[in-house]
Amino acid sequence: MTSTVDPQSERILILAPIGRDARTAAFLLEQSGLETRICADFKELAQELEQGAGAAIITEEAFFRSPYQTLLSWFDGQPPWSDFPVVILTSSRGVSSQFAALSIMDALRNVSLLERPLQAMTLLSTIRSCLRARRRQYEVRGYLFDREQTAAELERLVADRTLDLQDANRRLRIEMAEREQAEAALRQTQKMDAIGQMTGGIAHDFNNLLTAVLGNIELAVKRVEDDRTKDLLKNAMLAAERGAKLTHQLLAFARKQQLKLEAVDLNAILSDLGDLLFRTIGTTVRIETVLQSDLWPAVADSTQIELVVLNLALNARDAMPSGGRLTITTTNIDMRGVPKQGLNLPAGDFVCLSVSDTGTGMTEDVLAKAFEPFFTTKAFGAGTGLGLSQVYGVARQSGGGVRIESRLGIGTTVWVYLPRAKNVAAPPEVEPRLQPAERAEDAISGGR
Ligand SMILES: Nc1ncnc2c1ncn2[C@@H]1O[C@H](COP(=O)(O)OP(=O)(O)OP(=O)(O)O)[C@@H](O)[C@H]1O
Ligand SMILES: [Mg+2]
Repeated sequence: MTSTVDPQSERILILAPIGRDARTAAFLLEQSGLETRICADFKELAQELEQGAGAAIITEEAFFRSPYQTLLSWFDGQPPWSDFPVVILTSSRGVSSQFAALSIMDALRNVSLLERPLQAMTLLSTIRSCLRARRRQYEVRGYLFDREQTAAELERLVADRTLDLQDANRRLRIEMAEREQAEAALRQTQKMDAIGQMTGGIAHDFNNLLTAVLGNIELAVKRVEDDRTKDLLKNAMLAAERGAKLTHQLLAFARKQQLKLEAVDLNAILSDLGDLLFRTIGTTVRIETVLQSDLWPAVADSTQIELVVLNLALNARDAMPSGGRLTITTTNIDMRGVPKQGLNLPAGDFVCLSVSDTGTGMTEDVLAKAFEPFFTTKAFGAGTGLGLSQVYGVARQSGGGVRIESRLGIGTTVWVYLPRAKNVAAPPEVEPRLQPAERAEDAISGGR
């Protein structure tokens, strides 16, 4: 506990405006080693009290000579630990009726009355006991101060602790969210792998069957003379060809198609596709391309990449029935420095192709199923639900991945990541050429 008392707060203030009382009392007290201060009136006394004092001696008649309201106000405003001691010097007959009528004893609270003439010993012992009482008050003040300090320190500790806990809680929530995201991504990959295996098996068998069907129809057409039968066989051939195309799309999703993987320049592919894109998308949608100038070559099958871009562009167009903006970008990405975003990709360099639209966006439910084969929200006959499955399969089979972000009413972005082709000189920069790419045009999934 800290209870240092400075000499100022042990001073004895004296207010005795008539005769020699003030000087006599001061002399007596100072001889005993006490510090005194003689005040001219109550105003000065109140000012000195503000500076600190141990006790005050006031003569009865002082109250009739100057206004004492400031003094009463000071006493009234004492802090809880303070009960300032006052010695009032009365006449030899005790408190006069005139002084009693002022009723200020209660207001001053801690009052001792001493009759004059005074014995030096009486005054000294009264003042000493006043000072002892005052010191105890200072001790209480110190104790209260220490308690406040401790409470403040405790509050600071609690606040620090609360902040630490909040921080730990926040980190825990982030970790839980990350874990949930990783688990969801794993579940999605496992689901897609399971669907892929099943789809791939069925598509493979159907492909063999359809090859046999088509071959036999071709032979039959050559041997049949009758035109009507020929027409029937041609219809059968068209249906079988349509079936074969579907099985190829399923094989693409299942990552079981023949890919011609080589180092390709995505910027060049996009430039070549320009004209076809303009014709396919229509005039209500503005097409913007933001191509990275020093784009790395990517490992991909250029024909399949054309299909990927067209499928994504068609999806974007369908999501913007009353027009909007379609943005295609290419960027180099170092996967070591970016969050994996649920992509099951190894750390390393990737080339990213993104297609964004300002269309309807997808609900969470649609987004969760968008890659599944035959999942479509489009009207019967308007979409097969194989476009994104194909995009997914092509990207994965090339060693990359796909990610979608979509917000209802705002739009959708699909990122296709392809591994960077190493040991290949970067292709020269290309000027956008707007030429149709025939091979892609025929193969657009579910085109209208
Ligand atoms: N850019 C997009 N904006 C909003 N929804 C989209 C977008 N792309 C895909 N979708 C949603 O995902 C579903 C599946 O897309 P996907 O491309 O696989 O099939 P599809 O477009 O319906 O048919 P297909 O591409 O085979 O003709 C779509 O039906 C649509 O609901
Ligand atoms: Mg589609």
